[in-house]
Amino acid sequence: MLNMPMVVISATLVIFLLCSYPSVATTLLNKLQLPSPVTGLESPAFDRNGGGPYVSSSDGRIFKYVGPTEGFIEYASTSPNRNKTVCDGLADFSAAQATCGRPLGLGFNHQTGDLYVADAYFGLVKIGPYGGNVTQLVGPAQGNSNRFTDGLDVVPYTGVVYFTEASANFQLKDFETPVNSVDKSGSLLKYDPSTNETTVLLSNLAVPSGVAVSRDGSFLLVSEYLANIIQRVWRKGPNANSSELFMLLAGRPDNIKRNSIGDFWISVNSFIGSPRSPRRAIFPGDLE
Ligand SMILES: *[C@@H]1O[C@H](CO)[C@@H](O)[C@H](O)[C@H]1NC(C)=O
Ligand SMILES: *[C@@H]1O[C@H](CO)[C@@H](O)[C@H](O)[C@H]1NC(C)=O
Ligand SMILES: *[C@@H]1O[C@H](CO)[C@@H](O)[C@H](O)[C@H]1NC(C)=O
Ligand SMILES: *[C@@H]1O[C@H](CO)[C@@H](O)[C@H](O)[C@H]1NC(C)=O
Repeated sequence: MLNMPMVVISATLVIFLLCSYPSVATTLLNKLQLPSPVTGLESPAFDRNGGGPYVSSSDGRIFKYVGPTEGFIEYASTSPNRNKTVCDGLADFSAAQATCGRPLGLGFNHQTGDLYVADAYFGLVKIGPYGGNVTQLVGPAQGNSNRFTDGLDVVPYTGVVYFTEASANFQLKDFETPVNSVDKSGSLLKYDPSTNETTVLLSNLAVPSGVAVSRDGSFLLVSEYLANIIQRVWRKGPNANSSELFMLLAGRPDNIKRNSIGDFWISVNSFIGSPRSPRRAIFPGDLE
């Protein structure tokens, strides 16, 4: 969610290629340049053909990387009434963001090719395989008008979507308030596309910003940004429906992504001095 780390990186997306040996991984670090002045990149995702990465940005657009020659192209946006003149290039925390949209978590359903998006203002949104046919599935119209949707993951074989609501009290534009508070009004939710039903799995979370499903679907990891922790929520087995502390971190955990061999990667902000000048770190966690 909290675009702050990405504000630092500005118009550059850093791709970390996973590799068994850290020294080799270092040599594979590439930077992919975004069209200026796009900022606030979040949640890289790849489609079912391995295309991408797709990334969300502060101005409400989702971009797709199509190769070194063309770079990133505009793929979709979440807001039904997005005005390019007003919105293109918009930075985080501006009032117009509420109408331009702010996609945060991204994840593909690899069976249907649909892209699911957790948008901070428009809730859970589905985008068709070619970037069109945008449908709001769970959003302010159907519930809490303050819904601040944030992290998201899609279960590969069932298409079930897990997503987080960072706070029920604050919107992203008021983000400094929960960060300087002890807000615990966040939730972890499940959307089942076969029934269109949304269920709350966990509540009273301290700004849950990222969620990822394990490779075998037996558990989820959810990050609590304000508590510096990762919780594990069991979905199958004898402990199903219970949660436990999985990891305590030295900084604020944001998005979590799982790779195809089951490793989780967690982006962590470590604030030294002012929260306005965060440093960024990525921890690989070999968790399965
Ligand atoms: C977009 O916003 C600009 C500037 O406010 C305005 O002139 C224009 O009419 C708007 N376009 C649409 C389609 O609403
Ligand atoms: C939107 O959905 C319709 C009906 O399923 C389909 O014909 C059309 O190609 C889709 N458009 C895009 C841009 O995906
Ligand atoms: C779910 O919603 C979509 C449109 O939003 C509708 O086409 C579909 O029939 C619904 N499915 C169920 C099982 O209600
Ligand atoms: C977990 O919750 C689901 C849905 O409420 C229920 O069907 C299932 O039996 C529960 N499992 C366990 C082990 O409690």
